[in-house]
Amino acid sequence: MSSMALSYPRSQIRAMFDLTAVRPDVVSLAIGEPSFHTPAYVRRAAIESVQAGETRYDASAGIAGLRNAVAETYSARWGLPVEHRNVMITGGAMQALQLSLLLMVEPGSEVLVPDPCFPNYLGQVHAVGARAVPVPVRKEEGFRLRAADVAERITDRTSAIVLNSPSNPLGTVMDDDDVLAMVDLARLHGFTVISDEVYEQILFDGRRHVSAATLAGDLDHVIVVSSLSKSHAMTGWRLGWAIAAPPVVAVMAEIQEGTLANLPVPIQRAGIAALTGPQDELREMVDAYQRRRDLVVATLRDIPGVTCEQPAGAF
Ligand SMILES: Cc1ncc(COP(=O)(O)O)c(C=O)c1O
Repeated sequence: MSSMALSYPRSQIRAMFDLTAVRPDVVSLAIGEPSFHTPAYVRRAAIESVQAGETRYDASAGIAGLRNAVAETYSARWGLPVEHRNVMITGGAMQALQLSLLLMVEPGSEVLVPDPCFPNYLGQVHAVGARAVPVPVRKEEGFRLRAADVAERITDRTSAIVLNSPSNPLGTVMDDDDVLAMVDLARLHGFTVISDEVYEQILFDGRRHVSAATLAGDLDHVIVVSSLSKSHAMTGWRLGWAIAAPPVVAVMAEIQEGTLANLPVPIQRAGIAALTGPQDELREMVDAYQRRRDLVVATLRDIPGVTCEQPAGAF
């Protein structure tokens, strides 16, 4: 095996997940997995597609209907013109992250990541031959990533920063000023902001998500990755996207052509249904997550000697 493979950092989330599998008496909180089922109308769209025989290879960047549905969703959400040329359909946000790093990061360069972060960032940065540079978060700052801490760690080898707001595992939401300052740093130093917004819909207390793309005003130095895994309880469907400048999407599609070829069409039909169908179940899920957050935070705070910040979003 290659030195990359032999030194690949194992995700400790999976280690905990594997432990829970052999212990019948534990509740697994190891993985960002909704306890709800994918809405019935979404499942039905995939079944109908299979029955209609949509079982062949298709376009590497995704079927036109889904790319358009994503573009329309984000044009409305961001208040920016997003076109199908900006949308690459991927195997979950995870593959969108991988493609983003493959395209924007030179081997031997540095990628800034929040510390702590979703552990797969470390593996993905390692796999493209770059070095992950952790940027700490502090209790005094409400565990939010701060632009000043990022600025201190920029070098002439910095090729990208991965942002994640709302954050896994912290549940924090970054301040708009900090995100904007990081976009400005990216413009100044010529690196890319890869913004992992998979929890964009899971925000509490009536809070609304503000994307790095909205704050930047364009996609020149920003790639946004997201998916339906969390919002529509679709983790196992592996359906996500990257939203980027058209030349970036074009090369992502070329790489996809030589690897996965394309996401299965029935899965993509389910994605169209999820984005364009009724969103009531999403709201019910977020309400349930908020009630659970309140219960867990209150219970933890009742334990003498334990303090707990109130998460603003995510699981
Ligand atoms: C921060 C973060 N990014 C990405 C992912 C992966 O999302 P997807 O299922 O869309 O690949 C997760 C899943 O837990 C996550 O927590």
